[in-house]
Amino acid sequence: MTKNAPFRPELQKKIDTLKARRKPITLGSIPFESNLILAPMSSICNAPYRLLMEDLGAGGTVSELISCHGINYKNVRTTEMLKIDPREKNIGIQLFGEGAEAMANAAKVAEEFGPKFIDINMGCPVKKVVGTGAGSSLLKDPTQLPVFFSTIKKAIKLPLSIKIRIGWDHDSINAMEVIHIAKEEGIEFVAVHGRTRAQQYTGQANWNLLESLGEKAPLDIIGNGDLHTSALVKAKMNSTNCQALMLGRGPIRNPFLFLEPFIQEDDNIFFTPEDHFEVVQKLIEYARIYAHNDHILLISIRKHLIWMAAGFNNAGVFRDLIFKTPDLDETIKISEDFFMSLQDQKKRLGDHESFMTSGHG
Ligand SMILES: Cc1cc2nc3c(=O)[nH]c(=O)nc-3n(C[C@H](O)[C@H](O)[C@H](O)COP(=O)(O)O)c2cc1C
Repeated sequence: MTKNAPFRPELQKKIDTLKARRKPITLGSIPFESNLILAPMSSICNAPYRLLMEDLGAGGTVSELISCHGINYKNVRTTEMLKIDPREKNIGIQLFGEGAEAMANAAKVAEEFGPKFIDINMGCPVKKVVGTGAGSSLLKDPTQLPVFFSTIKKAIKLPLSIKIRIGWDHDSINAMEVIHIAKEEGIEFVAVHGRTRAQQYTGQANWNLLESLGEKAPLDIIGNGDLHTSALVKAKMNSTNCQALMLGRGPIRNPFLFLEPFIQEDDNIFFTPEDHFEVVQKLIEYARIYAHNDHILLISIRKHLIWMAAGFNNAGVFRDLIFKTPDLDETIKISEDFFMSLQDQKKRLGDHESFMTSGHG
């Protein structure tokens, strides 16, 4: 059993067994405890959620995207977003912005908060971000990238990584070109969401291209996109050329997604309704540290409860109840009733059903 184990012994034992089977990896010069990494997600990947995901097997995590200008203007809310829990071990802070100098200054500030690496968002498809020349817009003109990367790199001591899409649109798929430039400028590794900016979240991630990048690219590649179930993650983990995989929407729904792919056929390990409810309680415990009052806490956890319930019977009724109650204790009681009543995890939504079809990368 791990020291200061966060969960009750029955659950912790399962977690420890599966965690011990993970494949520790090094991406560039950065060691991670597993080849399954939590994707950055805005308004989701804050300290409590990242900490919970590390407890539940994520080999590393990345913060939500944080504005370099917000940091440079010392915006209070932006600065809050930089906070890292002292228990987080494998965290990268992701920054977004268009100007090399502004990004370099912000990266210097972010570094002081103690992440393991700094990541640049080059995948955000949202108009407001792209309109300023940031996010996936950076893929449009790779000739600007050497100066952009080197200016940021020179400003910081920590390793630098990037997260990109495969290109701007179908006619300008240029991930390999961008990765070659990144290699020249000393970027450590590249996470690639297998869609173009034009696709937003439609269609499928292009895993043929991701596999070819994993095989041929000159930097370590984290493949990302649509790995939403344990079966899909396990199959991909056993066959991919990518050095690691990044999971975003999947673990939002199934918090055990970083562990279940390591279950073997004769194990008889499965996560029970009690385990699900314990995860809910742990998230509340962690979120409480960062929320200034119960109301803010409630707002921050409601969405997680609803996502974790998605796909199970009566999730709609649960959702209505959760949104109607303004009380934290009652919310916990409703969650307990719901999660403890779950018997059959197979009723969860299939990977073919769309789930959260917008985001910042
Ligand atoms: C709600 C939401 C927010 C996101 N925010 C970010 C972000 O801040 N930075 C980023 O690089 N990608 C962001 N993404 C993209 C994810 O990191 C990931 O690339 C994408 O969801 C595909 O992976 P998945 O199919 O495993 O979810 C976001 C995605 C979603 C759904």
